[in-house]
Amino acid sequence: MSLRIGDDAPNFTAQTTEGEIDFHQWLGNSWGILYSHPADFTPVCTTELGRTAQLKDEFAKRDTKVIAVSVDELDSHHEWIKDINETQNCDVDFPIIADMDRNVATLYNMIHPNASTSTTVRSVYFISPDKKIKAIITYPASTGRNFFEILRVIDSLQLTDKYSVATPVDWQQGQDVIISPSVKQEDVAAKFPKGHQLIKPYLRYTPQPNK
Ligand code: BEZ
Repeated sequence: MSLRIGDDAPNFTAQTTEGEIDFHQWLGNSWGILYSHPADFTPVCTTELGRTAQLKDEFAKRDTKVIAVSVDELDSHHEWIKDINETQNCDVDFPIIADMDRNVATLYNMIHPNASTSTTVRSVYFISPDKKIKAIITYPASTGRNFFEILRVIDSLQLTDKYSVATPVDWQQGQDVIISPSVKQEDVAAKFPKGHQLIKPYLRYTPQPNK
């Protein structure tokens, strides 16, 4: 059965370019991004892994660990990393799982047989510190993911986790957020001391609480 938002993120052990890991132990109390790549030495994946490395500080600011998975073997990953570093001007120092037996790809439903029976699609799993799946993005192999969108989703998830808010359409850091419908109007002033704007009883904006 495929994984859905709210499910427990399955644990696994795996060989990675940074050594063997137990996924849950490796995550510790951090947020996590687990994302799949169709194959080593492919152009789109090369750019995505490069972007991940370039955004290292942005992921660190968000206390988020990133781990990639591809069904190729460890030696191949290590050779590919040299190319990624050379062509994307970066230093890949996050783990890439060598998932030759497709254990991780199967656990996380990353192979979509009507797209390809042998390689993964581009899945992204967002995992919270309590090891729950909080969001899932899926693209075909031919579409490179937008890593600024991945950071934006992490920001939204972390805000929702801490405050009773949601983020509106096209929301970006620093913009107003939406007060959750579950917050009673009589509690709004105490909960959101920066103020709020009531457009409709169900549509209430407040400044981003952590800015
Ligand atoms: C790529 O990563 O460039 C790629 C992989 C599989 C199919 C198409 C593109």
